Amino acid sequence: MVQELWTAIDDYITALLVPPDAPLQVALEASAKAGLPPHQVSPSQGKLLQLLARLRGAQNILEIGTLGGYSTIWLAGGLSERGRVVTLESDAGHAEVARTNIARAGLAEVVEVRVGPALDTLSRLVQEGAGPFDLIFIDADKANNDRYFHWALELSETGTLIIADNVVRSGAIVDDASTDPSVMGARRFMEALAAEPRVSATALQTVGAKGHDGFVVALVL
Ligand code: SAH
Ligand code: DHB
Ligand code: MG
Repeated sequence: MVQELWTAIDDYITALLVPPDAPLQVALEASAKAGLPPHQVSPSQGKLLQLLARLRGAQNILEIGTLGGYSTIWLAGGLSERGRVVTLESDAGHAEVARTNIARAGLAEVVEVRVGPALDTLSRLVQEGAGPFDLIFIDADKANNDRYFHWALELSETGTLIIADNVVRSGAIVDDASTDPSVMGARRFMEALAAEPRVSATALQTVGAKGHDGFVVALVL
């Protein structure tokens, strides 16, 4: 019942404030057809990511966890002129679907999809001297969220916005006895944020089409 209401409200918000966009629609359909799990951000969350990128005047965006490129396309739409997105994905099949979706959105020259476990591709980015990034979106395997936060800081500068998805997971985050690696990773991430003087952070719980979950937003000082 409650989920039905949350979904209806998300649909209402989307119908009014998130006009249909053909490349995003096509990306969703192609991702579903290719059998990808429906784990992409919702339309209203995608638009929030885009608005945050615009607010930040982002030229250089890093995403950890591409799936079919749905959030990637939203983020790329918030780039300032000549901006770029680097997005990291461990699953070669997901990356292939994403590349097709990104190309169809006219973003092949703007977005680089890097395949490999993100802990490897992140350390390579640092070695290459990539970054600093203006906005970093963490949305891959939650068990590694504290490690991704560490690398995100390495690739940041003052003013970088670090956003992370799925930090509430229907309330599992408050279960300090959980042995679920995703929950443990999410909790280590929250503790790392709390202990890190280089960021000012908060977390917001959300309800909507994707259930009860939440985002972390952290500003690098
Ligand atoms: N950001 C996407 C959703 C990402 S779902 C969107 O909102 O549209 C999480 C993705 O992270 C999946 O595609 C999964 O394959 C990928 N992933 C899981 N473990 C990973 C790892 N170790 N390194 C990189 N990507 C990983
Ligand atoms: C799920 C949702 C997500 O947003 C994600 O990044 C990974 C998994 C899920 O619903 O399982
Ligand atoms: Mg997510």
